[in-house]
Amino acid sequence: MTKRLHQKHALLTGAAGGIGLAVAAAFVQEGACCTVTDIGAQATPALAALMAAHPQQVHYLPTDVTRMDQITALIQAAHHRFGPITTLFNNAAIFDMAPLLQSDEAMYDKLFAVNVKGAFFVMQQTLAHMVEQQVKGGAVINMASQAGRRGEALVSHYCASKAAIISYTQSAALAMAPHRIRVNAISPGVINTPMWAGVDALFAKYEHLPLGEKKKQVGQAVPLGYMGEPTDIGGAAVFLASDEASYITAQTLNVDGGNVMS
Ligand SMILES: NC(=O)c1ccc[n+]([C@@H]2O[C@H](COP(=O)([O-])OP(=O)(O)OC[C@H]3O[C@@H](n4cnc5c(N)ncnc54)[C@H](O)[C@@H]3O)[C@@H](O)[C@H]2O)c1
Repeated sequence: MTKRLHQKHALLTGAAGGIGLAVAAAFVQEGACCTVTDIGAQATPALAALMAAHPQQVHYLPTDVTRMDQITALIQAAHHRFGPITTLFNNAAIFDMAPLLQSDEAMYDKLFAVNVKGAFFVMQQTLAHMVEQQVKGGAVINMASQAGRRGEALVSHYCASKAAIISYTQSAALAMAPHRIRVNAISPGVINTPMWAGVDALFAKYEHLPLGEKKKQVGQAVPLGYMGEPTDIGGAAVFLASDEASYITAQTLNVDGGNVMS
């Protein structure tokens, strides 16, 4: 049986992280070749294990997504390794939070550099490459968040950065429709990844909670009753990347156990 991402070449940013790694594994399982990238000079042990298991399908390239020159070099090197990029999983991001009146310029610059500037220019340069290469069945999946759907008193900069992703997804989908390149986003709820250790510690600080308490609370508040695992994002990402989703563009898909309804 033909795999669902047969003959796709996916570029995944933030691939050493919880969700990025799980989606890379799901893409490989469905037959895609994957250029995986993250900020570290070397692949993490988990990414290296994925590469070792699938040496013909997975290639690691280090990239800081805040650096325009590195994004350009990444796309050239990815093209060189596996041919034209057909699919982008635009996932790298960082988290920080503070009460609104303490959410200063340094935090704004740091979050917007990675989550907004980095994500936008990775997307823009990949789209330019897809148009130039006349890629068939091109698809971009941007990582938004339920935080981009509504504000939070303690999380203003991060929420705004994820709202920007939802907006860029819509604009890019319209711009790319004549090229038949689809642009969608996934909006996770709360997913059990390394990012959450930091999130939990920050909530503990600002809401005077014991460590682990916030993580427990947000899991219990999900309508399905538990925090998602990184693999819970894999199915949605494979679907949006595949030709099964060929009439879906400009959407932000909630993958959140029922937290947000839209
Ligand atoms: N975990 C959640 O609950 C949750 C919820 C909603 C949305 N998200 C989003 O999902 C995506 C993945 O999150 P995660 O939970 O797997 O986080 P994570 O921290 O495990 O992974 C993020 C990855 O991005 C990389 N990264 C950070 N800055 C970078 C840079 N400048 N250049 C290149 N890579 C960089 C990190 O090294 C890390 O490997 C993010 O966009 C995040 O905002 C996560």
